[in-house]
Amino acid sequence: MQSRFISISEYPKGTPSRDIFQLQEQDLPDLGEGEVRVRNTWLSVDPYMRGRMSGQRTYIDPFELNAPMEGAAVGEVIESRSERLKEGDKVSHMGGWRDIAQLPDKAVQPLPNLDLPDQAYLGVLGMPGMTAWAGLNRVAELQQGDNVLVSAASGAVGSLAVQLAKAKGGTVVGIAGAKEKLEWLESMGIKAVSYRDKEAQQLTADLKDACPEGFDVYYENVGGVCLEAALNCLRRDARIAVCGMIAHYNETQPAPGPSNLAALIMHRARMQGFIVADHWQHYAQFLDEVGPRVAKGEIEHEETVVEGLEKTPDAFLQLFEGANRGKMVVKL
Ligand SMILES: NC(=O)c1ccc[n+]([C@@H]2O[C@H](COP(=O)([O-])OP(=O)(O)OC[C@H]3O[C@@H](n4cnc5c(N)ncnc54)[C@H](OP(=O)(O)O)[C@@H]3O)[C@@H](O)[C@H]2O)c1
Repeated sequence: MQSRFISISEYPKGTPSRDIFQLQEQDLPDLGEGEVRVRNTWLSVDPYMRGRMSGQRTYIDPFELNAPMEGAAVGEVIESRSERLKEGDKVSHMGGWRDIAQLPDKAVQPLPNLDLPDQAYLGVLGMPGMTAWAGLNRVAELQQGDNVLVSAASGAVGSLAVQLAKAKGGTVVGIAGAKEKLEWLESMGIKAVSYRDKEAQQLTADLKDACPEGFDVYYENVGGVCLEAALNCLRRDARIAVCGMIAHYNETQPAPGPSNLAALIMHRARMQGFIVADHWQHYAQFLDEVGPRVAKGEIEHEETVVEGLEKTPDAFLQLFEGANRGKMVVKL
């Protein structure tokens, strides 16, 4: 059996150009004892993958050049030599960026039994959803009544973060780009502010208009002007959960730091980075808390769908252009 996969031919500097991504084919070896073959139905593309294209080890190894890339995927077992998984089982795993994945069964998890579309386990109930929950609860230690600011608020992580924060009763403000994203956030009962074409000073003024008392929690997904403006709008004992800094992932020069980090002193604030993998032992708790609310339709979630394996690189690159509302996924 053959598998078609996407690889990169070099480690890009700056914004990756489309032509470093190649569609290739390989013959799969015979299925080994304890292995399964999965026909992927949905692939995830995520901003962190840019870090794996740097050629350097960060908290995770870089992608190997000219080899199948990796990423979250869901699909159906089509062949099994595993005692745990059988043909027809719906599963998630990290053998994405390809149509057929062949994996040891310990690298494959059956999808939870909630009445939801399979691709929800790549977004609201997958790694991004877990990231929103862990960042708010375990890193920022979200409290009842906290005022919360979230950047990249209409994305996969942000759109759940704003809703979990709103359930705690404080004022929630989401920062996003396009007008239709702001409207979507407002439809969830959240205040929305655009960062587009704004210096930190203007964004600060707009955040202060939206929440004059300031923020107890800043959920950081972006960096740059968003961080600088957020630092200007903290309350005493504020917590900043540093989840991501997408504004910097394609930079070719080190970015200047925010000019106002001293705001942390004034507000006795804490700023802490985190990686969701370090919190994965709490995934079952997250699923218990958030899963039923998603299944009942109490939590809004959307996907932006790009179709076809060959379009996976385009979907990935579009994350940096803000093309997605909710989770960016590829349908095979
Ligand atoms: N720490 C962890 O373990 C962990 C895990 C998952 C994700 N993350 C991080 O969380 C953040 C969000 O990830 P996600 O998967 O939910 O992605 P996402 O928000 O669904 O997609 C990326 C969004 O970022 C915004 N964006 C892109 N370039 C920007 C820029 N230069 N300035 C401001 N906004 C920009 C765009 O929205 P607009 O239209 O609003 O610009 C875009 O839609 C990323 O920084 C990611 O690296 C961290």
